[in-house]
Amino acid sequence: MTPVSAKGSFTADRVRLGVIGAGNIADMNVAGYLEHDRCDVVAVCDTDKDLAAAAAARWGASGVFTNLDDLLAEPDVDAVEILTPTHLHYDHVLAAVAAGKHVSCQKPLANTVAEAREMGAAAQAAGVTLRVSECFWHYPPLERAKKLIADGAIGQPTNVRIRTIVGQTDAPFQAGLRADGYVWRLNNLSPGGHLFDDMVHKYALALWLFDQDIVSVQAVVRRRDLFFEPCQAIFEYEDPGLLGSMEVSYAPKMWMRSSYYGADEFVEVQGDEGFLWVTRCTGEMLDLPAMMLYRGDEKELAMTGYSDMDSDWATGFKRSSAHFVDSLLAGTLPDMTAEEAAKVLQLCFAVYQAGNSKLPVDPRSIEGSVTPTGWADW
Ligand SMILES: NC(=O)c1ccc[n+]([C@@H]2O[C@H](COP(=O)([O-])OP(=O)(O)OC[C@H]3O[C@@H](n4cnc5c(N)ncnc54)[C@H](O)[C@@H]3O)[C@@H](O)[C@H]2O)c1
Repeated sequence: MTPVSAKGSFTADRVRLGVIGAGNIADMNVAGYLEHDRCDVVAVCDTDKDLAAAAAARWGASGVFTNLDDLLAEPDVDAVEILTPTHLHYDHVLAAVAAGKHVSCQKPLANTVAEAREMGAAAQAAGVTLRVSECFWHYPPLERAKKLIADGAIGQPTNVRIRTIVGQTDAPFQAGLRADGYVWRLNNLSPGGHLFDDMVHKYALALWLFDQDIVSVQAVVRRRDLFFEPCQAIFEYEDPGLLGSMEVSYAPKMWMRSSYYGADEFVEVQGDEGFLWVTRCTGEMLDLPAMMLYRGDEKELAMTGYSDMDSDWATGFKRSSAHFVDSLLAGTLPDMTAEEAAKVLQLCFAVYQAGNSKLPVDPRSIEGSVTPTGWADW
């Protein structure tokens, strides 16, 4: 993939970070910055004054702002982490880039492919870094799975299956979420509710695992209860020998063990020599090693369980934040680039369009945005 995001010219030996948006997911992302020995969280901005002040106190930041332009005018802020509602990312990223700040923005980058491209082009023109923070790309079991696949541990990959189950949990994390953080996700400020906001992680995963484009999508998308679910999609990769499928299910009467949201994901990859299974992501539903690898030949059948790795879902957030700081300091291009983020959006909208039309869709044909049939008031 050719990066569109600019490689920023960063010469300092520490990163002074401003955090924009101190809502539900902010602590999970800021933890990686606070733990980094060459990053200082110096400023916080949230339109909710109390949230901004409380977050600044927790993170030891001296600057507290309720107006984005005021934070961006601070010369002592080198880079920002944008954690505002998705429909505001476009304005906030463009403002930060115009102010000469390096930017890490939470997924999804934008609500349309065209906006994502414009944001990438603006960063490139300004000579600053724009990356999208995607915690699934930094979750240790998935990183390990990607490396094993690339190293040929399962031979030639033939099928990938990405399952998401949303259920119930009594985790204090979920109980502590503010309800207003859900309003903008589930109304016409979002192109697809949960299927958009959460599933972009899984579309990103489908592309990243094999570093290959998906050239055709078929899908059935139903609307039930709160979210768009169930949903099933089939992906054809550039390599005609590789197919993918994605499933999203809502199990409102099923409780699961989780330290975070009441959800879990499973990733299965079949190759012509073996099989690999990531058994947990967001939750801890199954008592299994976080990853399992099966290889068999005529002499030996071998199953390896990888129980020794860090499989705490929070680690993906921390590592993603640290990756941004490390890349700025090293002068390298961090993932995910704006161009990669645009591909993720194209895949998401291709699922909606295929579900709407009942016809295969090439994600690369989508430049705007698509909503699933029945998405209210859009
Ligand atoms: N990586 C993940 O797994 C993950 C999980 C949840 C959310 N997210 C993403 O993170 C982003 C934030 O999600 P959230 O759940 O924290 O939402 P939220 O609504 O809880 O928090 C957003 C915060 O932004 C503040 N805000 C709104 N407008 C602002 C402005 N103009 N200037 C400054 N602050 C402003 C709000 O007051 C709020 O506190 C979204 O893009 C979401 O998709 C990522």
